[in-house]
Amino acid sequence: MATLFYTGCSLDGFIATRDHDLTWLTTRSIESERDMGYGTFVPRIGAAVMGASTWQWMLDAGESAFMGGVPTVVLTHREFEPVEGMRFTAADDDDDALRRIHAGLVVAAGDKDVWVVGGGALAARLAGLGLVDEFWVQFAPVTLGEGQPLCPGHVELRLLDVVRNGDFVCTRYAVEESRP
Ligand SMILES: NC(=O)c1ccc[n+]([C@@H]2O[C@H](COP(=O)([O-])OP(=O)(O)OC[C@H]3O[C@@H](n4cnc5c(N)ncnc54)[C@H](OP(=O)(O)O)[C@@H]3O)[C@@H](O)[C@H]2O)c1
Repeated sequence: MATLFYTGCSLDGFIATRDHDLTWLTTRSIESERDMGYGTFVPRIGAAVMGASTWQWMLDAGESAFMGGVPTVVLTHREFEPVEGMRFTAADDDDDALRRIHAGLVVAAGDKDVWVVGGGALAARLAGLGLVDEFWVQFAPVTLGEGQPLCPGHVELRLLDVVRNGDFVCTRYAVEESRP
């Protein structure tokens, strides 16, 4: 099935502030159960991959598992507490290791999709390897000026869908090509 990068984003292209704050995002209104809202997206997901800062943000927000134990890989060099269903591993300059991790997640997801949760550098790297099929980006009505970028790489996208949901412009793109 597909591999999807689904994320909220500021109008100027950041998914978190420099110090990993998401208040600017989580305080906005969106209807979860319609038009690319979280509640419509999550049932599609059978496996996930994320970086260490993203998992740390969830821990800080009080999470103890991700999506009820869906198979998840966290890319990191840090020592996190073990969590059932989650694997903590590094894949620095080793593209083959990243390809193997992704292939394992595709198998684990079965007939569901793989969610690239973030951050942007991980999404850009996976897209650069041709492993991301779609970007789903919900743009919040705010600019941050600086922060953690949506995708620090050149990825050519084709707009598939756009809709307003509450405060957000929700978009879905097919990945056409990733350039060095
Ligand atoms: N707006 C949204 O909807 C949304 C969605 C997702 C995330 N976020 C937020 O965006 C921010 C993203 O943070 P971030 O840009 O720092 O990205 P991140 O991917 O969450 O974390 C980056 C860190 O992950 C580790 N890492 C990444 N790739 C690795 C690899 N191949 N091998 C080993 N370790 C690897 C490294 O940390 P170590 O070496 O220290 O382990 C790296 O510094 C977070 O605050 C997150 O909460 C927002």
